[in-house]
Amino acid sequence: MIHFKDELKSIKNYIPGKPIEEVKRELGLKGRIIKLASNENPLGISPKAKKAILSSIGSLNLYPDDTNYYLKKKISEKIGVEEKHVIVGNGSVELINNIVFSFTRKHDNLLRCDPSFIMFSISGLMNGCNVISVPTNNFTFDVDEMIRKSEEADARIVYFDNPNNPMGSMVNQEKVEYLMKRINKERIVILDEAYNEYMSKNDRIDSGKLLRKHKNIVILRTFSKIYGLAGLRIGYGIANDEIMEVLNKVRLPFNVNLLAQKAALAAIDDSKHLSESKKLNDQGINYLTASLNKMGFFVVPSFTNFVSFDTLTDASVIFKKLESRGIIVRPIANYGLKSFLRVTTGTESDNKKFIKTLKEVM
Ligand SMILES: Cc1ncc(COP(=O)(O)O)c(C=O)c1O
Repeated sequence: MIHFKDELKSIKNYIPGKPIEEVKRELGLKGRIIKLASNENPLGISPKAKKAILSSIGSLNLYPDDTNYYLKKKISEKIGVEEKHVIVGNGSVELINNIVFSFTRKHDNLLRCDPSFIMFSISGLMNGCNVISVPTNNFTFDVDEMIRKSEEADARIVYFDNPNNPMGSMVNQEKVEYLMKRINKERIVILDEAYNEYMSKNDRIDSGKLLRKHKNIVILRTFSKIYGLAGLRIGYGIANDEIMEVLNKVRLPFNVNLLAQKAALAAIDDSKHLSESKKLNDQGINYLTASLNKMGFFVVPSFTNFVSFDTLTDASVIFKKLESRGIIVRPIANYGLKSFLRVTTGTESDNKKFIKTLKEVM
């Protein structure tokens, strides 16, 4: 018998949105499949990033820049922090994993908003920690309960995503400041802002300001969402010296590949692609919310590139029916929401096709 860590026994694998090819193969479907399951950018990759990738292909015999020098410089200017306070990861999931690995001991308590992005829990369990969930209140992060519970459980790390996946809801700067002021300074707070760029400018939190004020926060962002680079795996974190020193110890050499670095550097400056992506998403959110409301469904107000709505029935049945008609959405029963479906905004025609098909299958 091959032995493995006890901590891994209770872990359920992360379930990603189904890839198009897998659905085609499984169901024998032909023709175009619409995937609205993984919060990807329907406009595709930024043209500037594409150009950067193509012109870097000839350098793939070389190791990438281990320091991510240019990208860190660019990110630090954008957020208003020092370069040494930026770390780049193989997707933000790598950073979540490294934070949990570095700052916990076996049996430590970790706190998460429930529901929230599932990878934090998985990392916690992998590291032998107890993951305590604080339910959302009216679909938003319960700040007071999180503060109270963090003391009660003596939590090492407190995690929340803002806006929240899978709800799409958000809390404002004032609430985050309120939390940061009251939480014990020895606890690390992870603020995961994967959907930050989809928020309006007024709703966005000033992450640079938070970082300058609080030594115990790590803010995470990703290039997988509005920047359209999910397939390259690249995300980043910002944190102060003490945390950064530790995170740099556990970072594997060359953790971010060469194409991802070049593409991210180009995508971050592609303001046309960004504004078009935001505009398309705003229209998509408005259309999906209004159409679903009209059909009588409750939709959580969304500040992201997806909407979660209550089908009022077993959502896995609706999911399967949609899938058999070539539309992949995301059931979120693994987040404890059995009657909810999460749908990413697509192109205008994809969104229309989704609503039309949903009407047929309901
Ligand atoms: C809140 C949140 N954080 C992180 C991620 C993962 O980002 P990345 O692709 O950079 O690993 C996701 C992806 O869905 C997410 O929703």
